[in-house]
Amino acid sequence: MSGLSRLLKESWTLVEEQQDKLASYFYARMFLSNPQLRDLFPVQMDVQRARLLGAIVTAVQSVEDPERFDEYLSSLGRDHRKFHVTPEQYDVVGAALIEALRTFAGDEWGPEYDQAWRDAYAAIAQTMIKGAENDADKPPYWHAEVLFHERRSRDIAVLTVRPLAPLEFRAGQYFSLECRYQPRLWRVYSAANAPRKDGSIDFHVRSVGAGWVSSALVRRVQPGDMLRLAAPMGSMVLDRRSTRDIVCVAGGTGLAPIKALIEELTRYNRTRWVHVFYGARDRDDLYDLPALNRLANSYPWLSVVPACSDDFDFNGEQGNLNEVVARYGPWQDHDFFVSGSPPMVRSTLRTLAEMQVPAMRIKYDAFGDL
Ligand SMILES: Cc1cc2nc3c(=O)[nH]c(=O)nc-3n(C[C@H](O)[C@H](O)[C@H](O)COP(=O)(O)OP(=O)(O)OC[C@H]3O[C@@H](n4cnc5c(N)ncnc54)[C@H](O)[C@@H]3O)c2cc1C
Ligand code: HEM
Repeated sequence: MSGLSRLLKESWTLVEEQQDKLASYFYARMFLSNPQLRDLFPVQMDVQRARLLGAIVTAVQSVEDPERFDEYLSSLGRDHRKFHVTPEQYDVVGAALIEALRTFAGDEWGPEYDQAWRDAYAAIAQTMIKGAENDADKPPYWHAEVLFHERRSRDIAVLTVRPLAPLEFRAGQYFSLECRYQPRLWRVYSAANAPRKDGSIDFHVRSVGAGWVSSALVRRVQPGDMLRLAAPMGSMVLDRRSTRDIVCVAGGTGLAPIKALIEELTRYNRTRWVHVFYGARDRDDLYDLPALNRLANSYPWLSVVPACSDDFDFNGEQGNLNEVVARYGPWQDHDFFVSGSPPMVRSTLRTLAEMQVPAMRIKYDAFGDL
């Protein structure tokens, strides 16, 4: 571990157990020194409170792994254009962070720690600001009209939206979006299609428990409503140079980016076998199986294996997705795309490691913290 990483990790242990208080203090400092910043944040900050702070701390701790994080941070900077964030505001946030750390670390906080956090934060902010500047010719966000809204099950809806201005993205990427029923609450959703000539984009949304945005998208949004979309993010995209066969593992609405990748493959693929494992708790949640089966009927290289974990009469595979994928292996020579809830992604990654699939061949998006 380098000196900088050691200083960052060591100093974080001084405050780690007081994260809640640290977060309140951080936001209070930030809003006090720049009251306009308050307007960017949601009215209720309870669910969110630790998110921005948590994201900054994770980024700071990873500052010495630029290969993994540069692309992520550049796209996060592009995404943050939706808040019209200025470089000066990055300074305000950085100063509030250092101030909060210093306050909660107590006597053990020293100039070395202070400098380490300043340097690491400056490097991250710089990458985000550069990412934003590279997109200066694009709108900070896109207004998009909801064209269709279809309920596919009690909790799942498929929406089609059309951005009013051209919005480029790659199959497999996701967008931060906001709807008028929950102003200022932005959540990310994966595009479920490869880019189309008419620019329309599908989203597959499952409403989770007390979820603010997902409930609104499933239960309230209607055709004619406007959404706001920020710049696309994510690196779970196809490598066109790879000649390996492909395995896709999709849990629930984790199908969205996988469907986008399949759609892209339908445009050029002739040589790569593509196996899709699509899992849900019960058959009602396999909301897009008919469409997948139609694709498999049209493209001989595509096969689809549906699986249910809690539907014992289901006429298909039974069990958790990782177990089902393991039954069909070995898979050492395949490219993998994995998408779904954090527990599903975690268990699949564990199984793939046990099956000796090289980590560099696996791309994944977890719909929450892993
Ligand atoms: C890269 C990425 C891509 C994503 N793509 C999609 C997508 O295509 N389709 C889709 O439906 N979702 C997707 N998500 C998840 C989405 O971003 C939201 O997290 C989700 O819709 C919940 O938001 P909310 O505002 O409704 O809930 P919040 O208001 O944020 O959360 C409310 C409560 O629900 C809990 N909660 C949050 N998520 C879950 C969950 N999954 N299961 C159970 N409880 C939960 C929270 O802990 C909290 O207590 C994606 C997430 C990521 C990180
Ligand atoms: C290095 C600097 C920064 C990093 C790494 C960062 C990262 C992030 C991430 C990952 C999120 C999404 C959290 C989630 O919804 O899960 C987020 C949200 C947000 N960020 Fe940043 N950000 C940074 C700087 C800033 C700055 C300077 C501002 C401007 C004021 C800002 C404003 C916001 C706002 C308003 C949200 C929404 C929070 C919410 O909904 O509660 N961020 N940030």
